[in-house]
Amino acid sequence: MVHLKSVEALQNLVNDFLKKEIKADTDQALLLDAMQYSVNAGGKRLRPALTLRMIDAFNQGQQDLGMYLKAVCAVELLHTYSLIHDDLPAMDNDDLRRGLPTNHKKYGDAVAILAGDGLLTLAFQWLVDNDLDNQIARSLTMQLAKSAGPAGMVAGQVIDVSNEGKHLSYTEVQNLHAKKTGALIEYAMQAAGIMVNANQEVIKVMTSFGGHYGLAFQIYDDLMDQIGTTARMGKLIHKDDLEAKNTYPGLFGVEGTKQKLSEVLSLARKDLTKLAKITPIKVTDFDDLLAYFKI
Ligand code: IPE
Ligand code: IPE
Ligand code: MG
Ligand code: MG
Ligand code: MG
Repeated sequence: MVHLKSVEALQNLVNDFLKKEIKADTDQALLLDAMQYSVNAGGKRLRPALTLRMIDAFNQGQQDLGMYLKAVCAVELLHTYSLIHDDLPAMDNDDLRRGLPTNHKKYGDAVAILAGDGLLTLAFQWLVDNDLDNQIARSLTMQLAKSAGPAGMVAGQVIDVSNEGKHLSYTEVQNLHAKKTGALIEYAMQAAGIMVNANQEVIKVMTSFGGHYGLAFQIYDDLMDQIGTTARMGKLIHKDDLEAKNTYPGLFGVEGTKQKLSEVLSLARKDLTKLAKITPIKVTDFDDLLAYFKI
């Protein structure tokens, strides 16, 4: 009988690691405070949880996850930086994040920008300064740079902010969502494949699952901006219309967006079916992480 770690157990591993290690690597009190404020504000830890679950499923729950944690948590540092910058007045101008005032509301724009810079840089330090094999660290570093940088998340953010108030086509919004949000979630899956030394065929299917999960994630985020609650999301809702964003509900309405979400989720499930044929992973190993998309 295989016992995989629960999502809660994975979140706890990530939370405990982040609490200790950011402190060990930061050398300025105000900066540490500002970085920890946003990281420790909570968050679902979805990206590292996806990586850890994929590793755990691939290894049939047989391996201690401790040796992977530093490299796995890098994506959470990077994600948190992206949120701090995303919330700035010059970008989405948000006051609430993870249930607390946004970083710039608490520390001012300058320190918030620098806290983001610190987290972004530290993410790459953690990918290199860990107990994994050099070749694995190198592949992870390359892949995160591609997914988070000017070919990935940052490119998506530019498409997002430069098209407020303009109408993007369906294909363009798919590309926007795939880049601004999908790329980092896709990376979380590629990272698992790299860390367990999976072959290229397996990594390709893991990547496809990550891409579909990631696109679904931004579609759901758009939907929750319309029909979710601040209590559940930890941020203000009805913000996308205010900022004239390009979203799925803007293209398809609420009901059409639910339909698109379910189509993308069935593609993600198909990827798992493929993965189950070529690895020890079971289709049901991601049921709890797919349960997030509840409407
Ligand atoms: C929010 O990400 C930004 C998007 C990409 C939609 P999450 O919904 O993962 O935020 P946290 O980490 O749980 O706060
Ligand atoms: C976030 O997209 C993408 C990022 C890279 C942070 P959103 O702007 O929709 O995320 P929220 O709604 O502010 O969390
Ligand atoms: Mg944004
Ligand atoms: Mg935003
Ligand atoms: Mg949003």
